Order: sequence, then C-alpha cells, then structure tokens
Amino acid sequence: MLNIALFGPPGAGKGTQSEFLTKEYNLFYISTGDLLRKEIKEQSKLGKEAQSIIASGGLVSDEIIVQIIEKTITDNPNVNGFLFDGFPRTYIQAYILEGLMIKLNTSLNCLISLEVPEEESVRRLLKRGESSGRSDDNETVIRNRLKEYNQKTLPVLNFYKDKGVYFDINGTDSIEKVRSRINEIIKKELSKRLLNIVLFGYPGSGRGSQGKAISKKYDLEYVATGPMLGDEIAKQTKIGKQVQDLYNNGQLIPDEIVVKLIEQKLENSKGVKGFIFKGFPRTLVQSYILDGLLKKHGSSLSKIIEIEVPMLELIRRLDERSKTKDCMPYDSSTAKIVQRLQDHEIKTVPVIEKYNELHGVVKISGLGTFNEVFDRISFEIENGFKNLR
Ligand code: AP5
Ligand code: MG
Repeated sequence: MLNIALFGPPGAGKGTQSEFLTKEYNLFYISTGDLLRKEIKEQSKLGKEAQSIIASGGLVSDEIIVQIIEKTITDNPNVNGFLFDGFPRTYIQAYILEGLMIKLNTSLNCLISLEVPEEESVRRLLKRGESSGRSDDNETVIRNRLKEYNQKTLPVLNFYKDKGVYFDINGTDSIEKVRSRINEIIKKELSKRLLNIVLFGYPGSGRGSQGKAISKKYDLEYVATGPMLGDEIAKQTKIGKQVQDLYNNGQLIPDEIVVKLIEQKLENSKGVKGFIFKGFPRTLVQSYILDGLLKKHGSSLSKIIEIEVPMLELIRRLDERSKTKDCMPYDSSTAKIVQRLQDHEIKTVPVIEKYNELHGVVKISGLGTFNEVFDRISFEIENGFKNLR
C-alpha cells in the first residue's frame, strides 16, 4: 500500500493537489473536511454536532473524527493506498492514524507538508469564498482556523519529524510546481519499495531455473539457500567450514546459519528491485523467520507463487535429469528422489497452506515449455510491481 497524508494550513492547496494525486497513484481519498460536510448535509447526529464547530473555525473533537475515519478505512481495506487530506490534525489523531494503519498491516509512507504564510492562506480562501459556498470561508472564521492550526495542528509535525516520513514543500509556488515536487517525493518513496517473491514448487517443478531467469529479467536478487551454503563451503568462510562439518556428519543445517546468510544477502544487495526466494522457507519455523527478517529490513512479502506440476510428471523429469550431466547428487537414485518429494510434502506443503490462508498463493501451471511457464510467472511479477505503487 502507498499511504500519504497532505498537511498544511487552510488554503495551502491540499484539496487542489489531492485531485491529481488520487488519479495518478490510484489512491482512496479521505478528506475529513469533506466527510464532515457530507454528514452536515445529511444532518446526521455527527453532522449536527460538527456543524457549529466548523462554522466557527474550531476543530471538531477527536471522538467524532475517529468515528468517521475508522469506518471509511475499515470499509475499504483492499485499496491501493489512502490519501489523507486534513488528517491527522491533532497529536491524538496522529496516534489514531498509527493504530488504524497497524490494523491494516501497513503504515504511513509520507506526510507532505505544504508551507504557506498566513496572509497567502487568507488571500486564497477569501477568493475561494466568492464561489465555494463554504460557511467557513470568511475572514473572521479563516483567522480562527489559522489560529487552531498553529496551536493544535502544527505540533503534529513533531510526531513525524524523526520517523523519516516527513517532507516539506514551498506551497506558494505554482500549482504545477508544487505538484511536481510532490511527485518527486512519492516517486522516490516508490523506488525504495521492494518486490519480494517466494517461489514454491516440488523438486522438479522448474522453480530453480525459472527463479534464476525471472530474477535476471526483473532485477530481483535470487536467494536460494542451497547454493548459498555451497558458496560458503567453496570460499571456506567461517560459516562454510561449519556447514562442511555438519554435512560430513550427516547433520541438518540449523536455522541460525541460514538466517545469517539471508540477513547478509538482504543487507548487501543494494539497488535491486526486490528478492526472489527459492528453497526458503522450507518449514513453518522458517516462514516466521522470513517474515521477521523482511520486517527488520523495513519490507514484507509481496507475492507467493507456486509452480504446480503433477506428481508423475515430476518423477519423470527428475528421473530424466538423473541420466544427464545435470544430475544432482540428491537425485542420483530413485530412493533419493522419492525422499525429496516426500520431504517437500511433509514439511513445505504446510508452509504453502499457511501462506495461502494469510496472503493467498498464486498457483501457476508448470506444464508446457520453459517459455510458456516463464511467461505465466512474468505476468504475475509484473502485476506485483503494479500493486507496489
Ligand atoms: P478542511 O475541509 O480540511 O479545510 P482546511 O484545512 O481549512 O483546508 P481548506 O480546504 O480550506 O484548504 P486546502 O488546503 O484544501 O486548499 P485548497 O486546495 O482548497 O476542514 C474544514 C473544517 O473541518 C476544519 O476547520 C475543522 O473544523 C473540521 N475538520 C476537518 N478535518 C478535521 C480533523 N481531522 N480534526 C478536527 N476537525 C477537522 O486551495 C485553496 C485555494 O487556493 C483554492 O481556491 C485553490 O484554487 C487555490 N490554490 C491552491 N494551490 C494554489 C497555488 N499553488 N497557487 C495559487 N493558488 C492556489
Ligand atoms: Mg480542502
């Protein structure tokens, strides 16, 4: 999700810029001012309570705001993101917003403050007042709104300043110039986002070769724990030596080691568009580990894909490979092949089921030529990139 709040005094141009932003980034627009005016028009209980406060230029109580905003947000959980105009306007509302974002498992990405001096606000709103029909667009009320802004709303910035989501813009520039500055900020924010894919499939489903090809095409870092362990052994690193010992004694590689390697990979891969995980997570424990690692990295899983191939076809493929130079040590005998398929069934299938409940797993047929399967996965990856914005 992409969640943005436009901040600034009355008349700063929040409403003006919102129109463009909601279209450009396909965001769900929430203006607490508009929502309140709607309640007033309908003469609802909330509307009646808010009416005289708005007419005098005061701020409506946080209790009223939480009611209108919570309903709007929870009624629309599947949108691309929210654009908040005129919210949060008090320190309490900043906490409310945090809570609502947590509920949707997301967070506020940017709070963009449009800075405009008082006299410019007054001048603009008086002009708007000639045609707006808004009860609060007259000089006495405008001055009162500005007073409320300075006293109660400006301190909200302190809530965000050290969170790395706060940006300010000179709001006295032309509408186009302000728009392009906002665009720059959002584009930069979007470029920081990573597309994180987990690619599942039985041994022999093609997940390895597809994963590698997909990672090249889309500039994603390919994270395959098997080859990563092999790499460490080849380089005889400290971890590599440990792994070698474990292999020699026929022991399993503990999760601590795999976690370290993945953590290093996440840290050291700069400038990639995301990660594609193959062969990890293999167990339920590892699925929690992956969630935690990505969260620590300020990111999360974007999409889970499973390549489906019927069992008999898998056996046929693995058996065929075992007779070629590509034969892996682990598919050199029928017993080993069956063991791997069974391992996947027992340990990894429950992980896929868990992901399916939590996020939904996209199933892709692994039948057909390499390119046919590749195109099916590419389609899903491109959709994933679109949904990031
Ligand atoms: P609300 O509706 O949010 O009003 P506001 O904050 O006072 O802001 P405005 O809508 O007046 O200004 P804007 O920044 O949207 O400017 P616009 O784009 O129109 O709130 C109204 C009332 O509801 C509040 O007073 C309060 O009582 C209550 N309320 C709302 N939310 C609340 C909350 N969360 N908590 C408590 N109470 C709440 O632009 C203004 C004019 O300038 C336009 O004519 C435009 O064409 C022009 N303009 C815009 N940009 C430029 C530019 N760059 N150069 C030249 N002119 C420009
Ligand atoms: Mg407005």
